[in-house]
Amino acid sequence: MTLDTCTLDRITDTVLKYSPKGESGAPKIPKKVESGISTYAPISSVWEGSDSALLEAIFKFYPTISPEPILDSTYNAGRFWKGSKRNIVSMDIDPQYEPMIVVDNRKMTGVPSAKFGVVVYDPPHVGPQGRDKSRKRFDMDFGATMECGKDQDWNLSYLYPAFLKQAKRVLKPEGLLLAKITDMVNCHKSKWPHCDFMRMAEEAGFTVCDLIIKVRKGPMVSTKWKTAYHARKRHCFWIICRNSDKCERGIS
Ligand SMILES: C[S@@+](CC[C@H](N)C(=O)[O-])C[C@H]1O[C@@H](n2cnc3c(N)ncnc32)[C@H](O)[C@@H]1O
Repeated sequence: MTLDTCTLDRITDTVLKYSPKGESGAPKIPKKVESGISTYAPISSVWEGSDSALLEAIFKFYPTISPEPILDSTYNAGRFWKGSKRNIVSMDIDPQYEPMIVVDNRKMTGVPSAKFGVVVYDPPHVGPQGRDKSRKRFDMDFGATMECGKDQDWNLSYLYPAFLKQAKRVLKPEGLLLAKITDMVNCHKSKWPHCDFMRMAEEAGFTVCDLIIKVRKGPMVSTKWKTAYHARKRHCFWIICRNSDKCERGIS
């Protein structure tokens, strides 16, 4: 009888709990479990710290290949990497941030294939905010420059498919794509770009491994609105995808 990995997992869980040494006639179990040493030390699905600390935790938990070099495909001010010693290649469409590569990440012209262990993606989650000076400042500081109007169904998910195709191309096999995605209310409707991203990533040939909720201490507050109709978002998502048809480490 052959056992699939899920059945084997259930059996080895039971063996770990009740009979760490195994018994004759018991199914063959993986070596690290056979030795009685469990390596079960998961990352939490809710994160209350900084993005940079979460990225380091992700780098310790998920990679099956070296994460470096790391391509930050939406670099902006490089806030994720302040104080980091990681080998980061910075990319942005906007030259004012002085990234190493000024290019549209939906094209990645000139970027070699199968080069990176990790691609990081933190796209704009709102479109341009308006004409007055403070909003223009926000647009500039956070790169909220991509069109997000009626023609785009008030949503920025249209940016994802072309980016995902390029991310898959420049990642090594088994490399990780880490995307920070924030849902939004736009034109009086809830939009769910994190759902779009996960579906589109699978369609592009990635395996979506996990969804980590990153919580902010205080919500962003706007004086623009007088009546609330939706929950004030205090979280975003980090989506962990592997450039592979499977997610779990060491399972063939
Ligand atoms: C939310 S910011 C990223 C912030 C960054 N993670 C940080 O920590 O400083 C989004 C950035 O994506 C860039 N961007 C938007 N569309 C892009 C595209 N198609 N290709 C490359 N960069 C893009 C914007 O210029 C902006 O700098």
